[in-house]
Amino acid sequence: MKLYVCKNYDEMSAKAASVVASVITLKPDCVLGLATGSTPVGMYTKLAEMNKEGKLDFSEVKTYNLDEYYPIKASDPQSYRYFMDKNLFDNINIDKANNTHLLNGEAADADAECAAYDKAIEAAGGIDIQVLGIGNNGHIGFNEPSDPLVGPTHKTGLTESTIEANSRFFASADEVPKHALTMGMAPIMKARKIIMLVSGKGKHAVLREMLSGVITTKNPATLLNLHDDVTVVCDEEAYNG
Ligand code: GLP
Repeated sequence: MKLYVCKNYDEMSAKAASVVASVITLKPDCVLGLATGSTPVGMYTKLAEMNKEGKLDFSEVKTYNLDEYYPIKASDPQSYRYFMDKNLFDNINIDKANNTHLLNGEAADADAECAAYDKAIEAAGGIDIQVLGIGNNGHIGFNEPSDPLVGPTHKTGLTESTIEANSRFFASADEVPKHALTMGMAPIMKARKIIMLVSGKGKHAVLREMLSGVITTKNPATLLNLHDDVTVVCDEEAYNG
């Protein structure tokens, strides 16, 4: 696990953007695994700036996002599709209709949707770099702490702590969907490269647990210790607490 401790959120975002940009530069038709949440927003802004300045081309890049609430309409401002359009896809020269993929929160058959998603990632050649945030409880995507973790992409329930944490984006906790579709641990761990962004004091405990090298399904992020190309980019608040 490679670790970069950055002074603040802005430096963390710039560092993470440079790592992702280097993957795109070396392989212009690469497959990106992307994440939502507040943490990667600054990185997405920097990537869009590089694209605007003509330094980075997304015309052949394909993306697969980690997760989506379920059920939710793509047009709902709380959906992760809406978030990705607003924070990245609408600001870069990506082929949004054909090359950006999110799990469909409107799918009638959630299991079929998840199985098709894993197949599509494989057919695209697998993920070259997977961007991850981390939940306060160590969740990645929506793989919540639990005795068994699930390999394939699947429908899952959200824990009370995640509903509470994510309620800041909704009018109230009652409005947070109770389920989500999420990449399972398998597609995440199969990514050739993983970059995890961690910001703020609230993530200190789970970050330190992950960096300790002890692996437990009670903190799904600790499983990243089993992958041989993980870069963690955090800020001093997350690192020092
Ligand atoms: C959500 C997402 C995760 C994300 C986490 C942390 O639950 N499903 O992918 O990493 O929130 O979000 P934030 O970056 O806002 O702390």
